[in-house]
Amino acid sequence: MLKKLLSVMEEKSLDGFFISKIHNVRYVSKYTSDDAYLLVTTNKNYFITDPRYTEQAQDECKGFEVVNWRTAGKSISEAIANLANGLNLKSVAFEADNITFLNYSGLSEKIEANLIPLTNVIEDFRSVKTPEEIQNQRVSCQIACRAFERILKDIKVGVSEKEIAAKLSYYMVSEGSDSKPYGDIVISGKRTSLLHGIPSDKKIEEGDFVLMDFGCGYKGYLSDMTRTVVVGKASDKQKEVYRLEQQMLQDALDVMKAGATSKDIYEASIKAIKDTEYYEYHYNNIGHGIGLFVHEIPFMGANSQAVLFENNVTTMEPGIYIPNWGGVRIEDQVLITKDGYENLVTAPKELIEL
Ligand code: GLY
Ligand code: MN
Repeated sequence: MLKKLLSVMEEKSLDGFFISKIHNVRYVSKYTSDDAYLLVTTNKNYFITDPRYTEQAQDECKGFEVVNWRTAGKSISEAIANLANGLNLKSVAFEADNITFLNYSGLSEKIEANLIPLTNVIEDFRSVKTPEEIQNQRVSCQIACRAFERILKDIKVGVSEKEIAAKLSYYMVSEGSDSKPYGDIVISGKRTSLLHGIPSDKKIEEGDFVLMDFGCGYKGYLSDMTRTVVVGKASDKQKEVYRLEQQMLQDALDVMKAGATSKDIYEASIKAIKDTEYYEYHYNNIGHGIGLFVHEIPFMGANSQAVLFENNVTTMEPGIYIPNWGGVRIEDQVLITKDGYENLVTAPKELIEL
């Protein structure tokens, strides 16, 4: 990855690149923890952190000199500036979408190089996955699918959303997830119309939809899936909304392949509801890239210009959300191939009545 970054730096006549986004730090240096920065240069590479992480960084980050910023300056920005000035750098890029006002002000005050704001340089590399990253995401999705299978027996009248969320996290970890499974949208009944509702003390009632949007990490690589089930017998309206949602997802998946545009995919996703009363209840962002972070490029939706590439890994998650009634989302995660996709989420999608 360093090689790719150095070639972009050469193209843009940069002799330094300050990386502050932790997922980009991980991608470039292989570091697996928190609170760290990189200064990549045409000469040498610095890994900057504090004493909590220096030993780990020395083990993990080959090709980087590990620096404790507290000994290199009075602040992180001063430490970065001192290192850049020590190498006599002339032109240093920084991640314009990930720097605090204080760090930017401190850096620009002390650094002798020109500061060049850039976005999406490493994110572009990250959006096209290597075989190893793809395999990690396959495993991550399979862990989440096994946790889904296990949680079904715990979803019962009288159990709270929070209890289900806690068990789902436990099942993911016990099935092999990294220690911090991401997110726990577990909502029920009318609350399922909340796109990103968080679990509450509400207890499951007979006839409730239960929507679970969850995922985990495997070697840092994330999964993200959603399934919506019914407790008891589904009503006719629940069946109708569920069937339409299933169709929306399938129609979108059917057009996903390398070269497909976000517009094509969005248009496919709304075909099933365009002439129905449910059209007004869909949400027009329908999927996102995923990897070391849960929401990455490419983003798909009505207003996105994104085009899919082979070896993107993305979610697809159209939904129908009816305020004060409820909602349904089904979310899969797919690997984009030349001619289509490989669905990494294999959990059933037909309506489950518990
Ligand atoms: N699965 C919900 C989201 O990606 O926002
Ligand atoms: Mn998602």
